[in-house]
Amino acid sequence: MLKIVVCVSGGGTNLQAILDAVETGKITNTQVLAVISNNKGAKALERAKSHGIEAEALSPRQYPHREAFNQAFTDRLKALSPDLVVLAGFLVRIPPQTVEAFDGRIINIHPSLIPSFCGVGYYGLKVHEKVLERGVKVTGATVHFVNEGMDEGPIISQKAVYIEEDDTPESLQQRVMEQAEWVLLPQAIDDIANGRIQIVNGKTRRKTE
Ligand code: GAR
Repeated sequence: MLKIVVCVSGGGTNLQAILDAVETGKITNTQVLAVISNNKGAKALERAKSHGIEAEALSPRQYPHREAFNQAFTDRLKALSPDLVVLAGFLVRIPPQTVEAFDGRIINIHPSLIPSFCGVGYYGLKVHEKVLERGVKVTGATVHFVNEGMDEGPIISQKAVYIEEDDTPESLQQRVMEQAEWVLLPQAIDDIANGRIQIVNGKTRRKTE
């Protein structure tokens, strides 16, 4: 049984997709241990509680400086002891000591086709604003393992979404979520839970049966 902790910041629609997939059996062999939000008002915390899952807020604002938060966040995860940490719209930079403690055991969903429209300053709606500003015709979402870089770890899966003439950042965000994110993230968790993904030479590979 893969034990996971899901980290969130806001609406929690990706968290919802995970919880629904666990309940309907699209994700197998997986237990959600807890949900952590850096924002105590996040709707995601309500979603977790209504599924009977432990939900807690842990914010950099509660600490005198960033390093104190980094340590507290890492210590909390270590205490929960998950097999996998899932960043489902977690808009806080993952501390280096967390990456070290959970090497190869943290995944993230990003709302673009990495390596486009990612890195510092590219998160949430901002990604879709930049996509429309640049005028690209295809965007999408990516699930990847987290390393010490920003959106740089081995890519697990990607899905393309076409831009439409009258898209706004909001309409595009919604379509990327519906068509890509809510599909890719549960799928990646199920693949990891069932041993279908391995990392070879810094890249992921699907295990053959
Ligand atoms: C999602 O679009 C997710 O891909 C993005 O934040 C949104 C959270 O929505 N994550 C990032 O931008 C990470 N760099 P949600 O709270 O409804 O799942």
